[in-house]
Amino acid sequence: MFAKKKNNKSVCVIGLGYVGLPLATQCALKGYKVYGLDYDEKKIKKISSGKSPIKEKFLDENLSQVNLKASTDSKIIRKADIILICVPTPVDKNFYPDLEPIKSAAEAAAKNLKTERRPLIIIESTINPGVCEEVIEPIFKKAGYKIGKNYYLAHCPERINPGDPKWNITNIPRVVGSFNKKGLELALKFYRDIIDAEIYPMKSIREAEAVKIVENSFRDINIAFVNELAKSFDRMGIDAVDVIKGASTKPFAFMPHWPSCGVGGHCIPVDPYYLIERAKLSGFDHEFLKIARKVNNSMPAYTVELLQDALNEIKLPLNGTAVGVLGLSYKANVDDLRKTPALKIIEKLKNHKAKVFVFDPYFPQMSNVKNLNALLKKSDAVILASDHNEFKEINPEIFKKQKIKAIIDGKNCLNKKKIEKFGIIYKGIGR
Ligand SMILES: NC(=O)c1ccc[n+]([C@@H]2O[C@H](COP(=O)([O-])OP(=O)(O)OC[C@H]3O[C@@H](n4cnc5c(N)ncnc54)[C@H](O)[C@@H]3O)[C@@H](O)[C@H]2O)c1
Repeated sequence: MFAKKKNNKSVCVIGLGYVGLPLATQCALKGYKVYGLDYDEKKIKKISSGKSPIKEKFLDENLSQVNLKASTDSKIIRKADIILICVPTPVDKNFYPDLEPIKSAAEAAAKNLKTERRPLIIIESTINPGVCEEVIEPIFKKAGYKIGKNYYLAHCPERINPGDPKWNITNIPRVVGSFNKKGLELALKFYRDIIDAEIYPMKSIREAEAVKIVENSFRDINIAFVNELAKSFDRMGIDAVDVIKGASTKPFAFMPHWPSCGVGGHCIPVDPYYLIERAKLSGFDHEFLKIARKVNNSMPAYTVELLQDALNEIKLPLNGTAVGVLGLSYKANVDDLRKTPALKIIEKLKNHKAKVFVFDPYFPQMSNVKNLNALLKKSDAVILASDHNEFKEINPEIFKKQKIKAIIDGKNCLNKKKIEKFGIIYKGIGR
């Protein structure tokens, strides 16, 4: 165990989720006195007993080692020199940005600001360009506070990728923007203190806000492109995955993205809407981003269509057929359901009156069978919706043994050739 660095500054993290909890832990490891605020009582109880409410390697290894005082009482903010806001920035059912959590976090900070400390407030949540100037700063102004005089405000968009074995809170480079030179200096100093990677200053807070939205919109657009290619190549009998692998041999100006049964998570299927809506207010229509969202949102339905095609080949209707869904998480080896395509796939299967069996080792409470074997035993066909290791490693012989007739590989992670060798219909997304 390494010796913890001493630090006389205190930090309060508002929102102890996938972003806030690793950040709070890292600050504590770097010697800051750390407080945490979250309105979820169950979460606070668990964190206070040194356990992580999220399955995450970094948290598993470090949370129990650090001293983190967590509370549901916003007065805890008063203890902080640095306030880090890490609350969700979701969209509503009409895909309209919901800034309520971030507004209420800012209001709690404004109500509990110890101005004699001249605290530094940093927004880590993903926000569209303009939120700090148009939404956050006015909340503090209304409370009677002035940037530079009573507090500083900066934005450092979080880039964490939960479940990533290489990149975590300690080593991902960051960008920072602020309202003024001093705020930027303070924020740069803080991040350079806690993170062992480049901390890049942006010229304005608006630019820093835009960086994160651009990163995730870039991903969304590229994924939409390969999802569209998958649909097109499926009709032409071309394997989209092989083509992308081929194109990836070009050593410059190509970056592979992969088709799948849908885009999930709290970021990629959400963040582009923040830019779409804010740009509308400035009179610009982001057609390209809207099309990307439409294509990616169509993938769960397309996955079910592939199953219908496969069942048609063997004269089986989807109505009444037992379909096993492998996985609920939106990505491999994490217990995260947010915007997961698996739930949309299940809904569509149920609409078609299929008998649906579900198994996810990360969600035993949401699975309606005990284990993978039980699922395969009950199913005529399978849709793989999450590429957890347990599913990727299935020996195709087991599918044969359990009399599976068709497999839709929503993550293109199974061995097509071997599966087909056993006389099972295999359809990937674009292969
Ligand atoms: N999850 C990721 O991989 C990821 C990566 C980069 C950026 N982000 C961004 O970071 C932000 C947070 O995401 P997350 O994944 O950590 O969300 P999360 O849902 O895991 O955690 C947010 C936490 O904030 C709490 N909360 C909500 N409103 C609150 C309030 N007003 N006061 C106190 N607590 C409150 C919730 O109870 C929850 O525990 C979002 O803007 C997201 O887009 C997320």
